[in-house]
Amino acid sequence: MATLSPSDLVDADWSPEDAAVDAAVDDAEPMQTDSEPLTPAPEDVKEIEAAVQSLDLGTKGKVKEVPPVEEPEPEEDNEENKKRHLNVVFIGHVDAGKSTTGGQILFLSGQVDDRTIQKYEKEAKDKSRESWYMAYIMDTNEEERVKGKTVEVGRAHFETENTRFTILDAPGHKSYVPNMISGASQADIGVLVISARKGEFETGYEKGGQTREHVLLAKTLGVSKLVVVINKMDDPTVNWDKSRYDEIESKMAPFLKTSGYNVKKDVHFLPLSGLVGSNIKDRLDKKICSWWDGPCLFEVLDKIEVPLRDPKGPVRMPIIDKYKDMGTIVMGKIESGTIKKGDSLLVMPNKANVKVISIYCDEKEVRQAGPAENVRVKLSGIEEEDVLSGFVLSSISNPVAAVSEFHAQLQILELLDNAIFTAGYNAVLHIHSVVEECEIVELIEEIDTKRRKDDDPKKKKPKRKPLFVKNGAVVVCRVQVNNLICIENFSDFPQLGRFTLRTEGKTVAVGKVVKLPNPGNSIF
Ligand code: GTP
Ligand code: MG
Repeated sequence: MATLSPSDLVDADWSPEDAAVDAAVDDAEPMQTDSEPLTPAPEDVKEIEAAVQSLDLGTKGKVKEVPPVEEPEPEEDNEENKKRHLNVVFIGHVDAGKSTTGGQILFLSGQVDDRTIQKYEKEAKDKSRESWYMAYIMDTNEEERVKGKTVEVGRAHFETENTRFTILDAPGHKSYVPNMISGASQADIGVLVISARKGEFETGYEKGGQTREHVLLAKTLGVSKLVVVINKMDDPTVNWDKSRYDEIESKMAPFLKTSGYNVKKDVHFLPLSGLVGSNIKDRLDKKICSWWDGPCLFEVLDKIEVPLRDPKGPVRMPIIDKYKDMGTIVMGKIESGTIKKGDSLLVMPNKANVKVISIYCDEKEVRQAGPAENVRVKLSGIEEEDVLSGFVLSSISNPVAAVSEFHAQLQILELLDNAIFTAGYNAVLHIHSVVEECEIVELIEEIDTKRRKDDDPKKKKPKRKPLFVKNGAVVVCRVQVNNLICIENFSDFPQLGRFTLRTEGKTVAVGKVVKLPNPGNSIF
């Protein structure tokens, strides 16, 4: 396992796609794009009625499945299916139009019939929420429909020419950020929905809005590509105005850069109307919008390339949920390796030997599944009670590390009440599907973000352990948790090595795991 000494850390990249962060750090640019602090401030498809199938994800994240109209064809093996599979999470400030756009995608891909839409129109009208009918496709719970707010992550499926997509419709409301984290941690691609309606972009982007927090969380949780959809372009306050679109793009681009996205390579912007369904499946009609020559959403999504994960690597599947169904079923996304029917694997950290009885991809049973697939795996050898979300299904020969402390490189965002960050700081650690109380027990080194890579290392000042750091600092520290958690060095498995720290419902830092105790040990 690669280990890094603190002095290596200045030059340690987050990942190739994080080059922008490094560039920003090297240039000693503050993580700020304008007068606003970068830091998020979280205070702030038969009949669809059969669609509600809530899956309890415990305290951490809730997902509700939105099944397609047609029963899926039974399929023995998905190797026949040459289409790649990607998870796309819809993120963005509350009311930006994530569920509406998700619902429209299902409608445009033929998964919701006109009768159902009419029924939703009536139901929405009865609830005095006329314009919310498209969102009802994704928002299947009564509470969500009454309040017009997504609570649980909605999960649905659609296909473009070359790709099968699983949509994860995250809630935008600040109270449900943990559910958003759960959704984003399963995704490769994010669709960041931004409302262009007068005043709404501003509210979502400012301090207190969720736009920035969602972007930072998405990046940290491994969402490598972003499609930024500038939505509600049909709204009377916008009316497909190019200057409004340009204004939003020009404000978002620098922020996305400082959040670690390479805007040229990893980000696509496009104008859209989720409600009307413009620029989603088909390109924009010139009569509606004369200035847009670019692709529609389906085209962009279909062509997006995501970093490959290794199908031959060791098995790593963080478990997001489990249930009993004539055996123990675990759910999650395969981050590395291939799981085959009949395989013997380990459930970590409790080192339980298990056997794979069957594998389900979407609703289909398959013989094997590889990286980036969302699967349900039926296991023998373990009781459902002995599995917790955050556990990792892992190969026996090369199991995931199970530790109670680790070294992390943290980027401090915004501490509550501008508090200082010292040893003894307590927070909630969110790393893949793990949610665990943690304590910062030692600050090891503050990274000088002003030092350039080409500086003479000999001129470096000798390192002293800092007693405290403030907002904006990058610091290497030792982090402890009470229970064993399964994590990896970021450099080995980025998806299992990056995390967020939250206190009182607010993201205070993002980080990556840079050093683990020696193999077999849980502490240093
Ligand atoms: P949360 O789940 O609560 O975070 O909200 P959301 O982002 O899912 O927003 P939702 O889809 O529920 O839409 C919120 C409101 O915006 C509803 O009234 C929608 O009709 C309206 N809306 C969404 N997309 C569009 C659009 O393209 N044009 C217009 N004019 N209104 C839209
Ligand atoms: Mg919603």
